[in-house]
Amino acid sequence: MDKKPSIQQNVSLKPYNTFGIDVKAANFVSVVSVEELKNVLQLKKFPHKFILGGGSNMLLTKNVDGLVIHLNLTKKEIIEETNDHVLVKAQAGENWHEFVLWSLEQGFGGLENLSLIPGNVGTAPIQNIGAYGVELKDVFYSCEAIDIQTLETATFTKEDCKFGYRDSYFKRNKGQYIITSVTFKLSKAPHTLNISYGAIEAELSKKEIENPGIKDVSNAVIAIRQSKLPDPKVLGNSGSFFKNPVIGVQEFEKLQEKHPTIPHYIVSNEEVKVPAGWLIEQCGFKGKRFGDAGVHKNQALVLVNYGNATGEEIWDLALRIQQKVKETFQIEIEPEVNVY
Ligand code: EPU
Repeated sequence: MDKKPSIQQNVSLKPYNTFGIDVKAANFVSVVSVEELKNVLQLKKFPHKFILGGGSNMLLTKNVDGLVIHLNLTKKEIIEETNDHVLVKAQAGENWHEFVLWSLEQGFGGLENLSLIPGNVGTAPIQNIGAYGVELKDVFYSCEAIDIQTLETATFTKEDCKFGYRDSYFKRNKGQYIITSVTFKLSKAPHTLNISYGAIEAELSKKEIENPGIKDVSNAVIAIRQSKLPDPKVLGNSGSFFKNPVIGVQEFEKLQEKHPTIPHYIVSNEEVKVPAGWLIEQCGFKGKRFGDAGVHKNQALVLVNYGNATGEEIWDLALRIQQKVKETFQIEIEPEVNVY
């Protein structure tokens, strides 16, 4: 039976973006299958199509003309299992954190450090989400994506995805593919935990857990995130707004002379990563509020919407921060979120 997709007009996108920005979609459709997605992609009536996943990594600064396609594909299945590993395939519209919790319930290791990250499975590879010493690429096996022009389905291996720090093939080639499912390679016990990140160690010792399992690590990550990062359901935000800049060693050494306590991570012999949150805090923005747009009080890298900020107001604040960091430290910080 051929069902016509139900397209609605003039729909507020506020519930569909974690910043909680109230812009309108001229036309809106939610698709629940790949077939439905292909059908709406062929609609000639709407030349401009806007793909919406979990809405957790974007700032909407204006109404969206054309057709917003909300990816609501859900299902997860084990497609292969050995004594050590399991391949789990999850559809793009699965909520990321619920998927992580489900995998931990099954006893599968690998996703515990990535607990409580907002967003959906399908958008996770685009920016190679990462936290507490683990990145998506560490558990990624492959993904399926539809070519928007030809509507053909392609399979991408880890190598094809060209993952980098908050970066991938999909991020560099926007508008070419829509990821419809992701397959993860997860471990069955015993699983090597990644708990070297200082905050995780501290949280585990606070709870006096000596031999942690995957659930303990997940709980520690959840506790750390809850203490620093605002819950988008309570206070609109998009996680880290900027990427941490990577600078040359010489540039860093000069900075360190002036600011001996500057936190940093060595990337290579030539490069050092500096936390943008620290730079922003030094510029005096932490906890500041301008109307309903603000900088979070516990994490200066997170911009927040206190209720009715427009996307433009948040973006103006981001530009001001960017400029001040440039003037003060001669370092360019680049947004991590997609700005529309
Ligand atoms: N810092 C400050 N002031 C601040 C915030 C941070 O001085 O207001 C300092 C901290 O004291 C610490 C350093 O900056 O020494 C790093 O801070 P944190 O551990 O909070 O991590 P981050 O570099 O700010 C990155 C990711 C987060 C991820 C955490 C933990 C990016 C852009 N962000 O933040 O990812 O959760 O590490 O691994 O790489 C996200 O991408 O949305 C996100 C939340």
